[in-house]
Amino acid sequence: MANDGVNDPVNTGRRRFLSATTAVVGAVGVGFAAVPFIKSWNPSARAKLAGAPVTADISALQEGQRLVMEWRGQPIWIVKRSKAILESLPGLDGRLRDPQSENKDQQPAYVLKQNPEFRSIKAEVSVLVGLCTHLGCSPEMIAEIRPEPFDPEWKGGYFCPCHKSRFDMSGRVFQGVPAPINLLVPPHHYQDDSTIIIGVDPQGAA
Ligand code: FES
Repeated sequence: MANDGVNDPVNTGRRRFLSATTAVVGAVGVGFAAVPFIKSWNPSARAKLAGAPVTADISALQEGQRLVMEWRGQPIWIVKRSKAILESLPGLDGRLRDPQSENKDQQPAYVLKQNPEFRSIKAEVSVLVGLCTHLGCSPEMIAEIRPEPFDPEWKGGYFCPCHKSRFDMSGRVFQGVPAPINLLVPPHHYQDDSTIIIGVDPQGAA
C-alpha cells in the first residue's frame, strides 16, 4: 500500500511523550507465529546513548509477527497486521476510549492521515511503543481473533496483565480499563518499502 509521500528522512520528531534516553539494541520479538531472523542494524554505542534513530529491516516480517526494537530505552513494536485484523478495527470504535486518537500526545499526526483507526503510515504495519500507558508494564500481544477469557469479542490486540488494560491492534485503549490513553506511536518514517527509521519524522511532516 502506498505510504502517501512519507518516505524521506528528515529531522527529528521530538514528541513530549518520548523522552527517555538509553542504549539502542535491535531484537527480534515473538508474535503468535514463529518469527524468522530479521536483520537490523544500529548506530554506534555513543549514538545509542544519545538516543539516535534506529533502523529496522521489515522485509522478512510476516503477518501476525512482531519485530521488537529498542529506542531511547523503550521497546518499539513493529507488527504486520492481516487484512482480517484491519477489517475488524472499525467495528471496535464503540468500545474504545479514543477511537479516532484525538489526544494528540499519543501519536504523530501523520499516522492518522490515511486512516485514524489504523494509526500507521502503511495500513498493514503498526509501529507502537510497547509500554502500557497506565503504569508502564509491557502488555502481551494476543493477535488472534478469537474469544478470550478477558474478552469474548476479542479481535486481537494487547493485554496488560498488570491491571488488565486492553488495547486493540492499533494500540487503541478500551473503555473501562485503567490505562488512560492509547499506546504511543513513536516518530518514524520509511526509508524504502522495507526499511523503517525509528525516531525521525517523514520529510515535511508537521
Ligand atoms: S500497567 Fe498496564 S494496566 Fe496497569
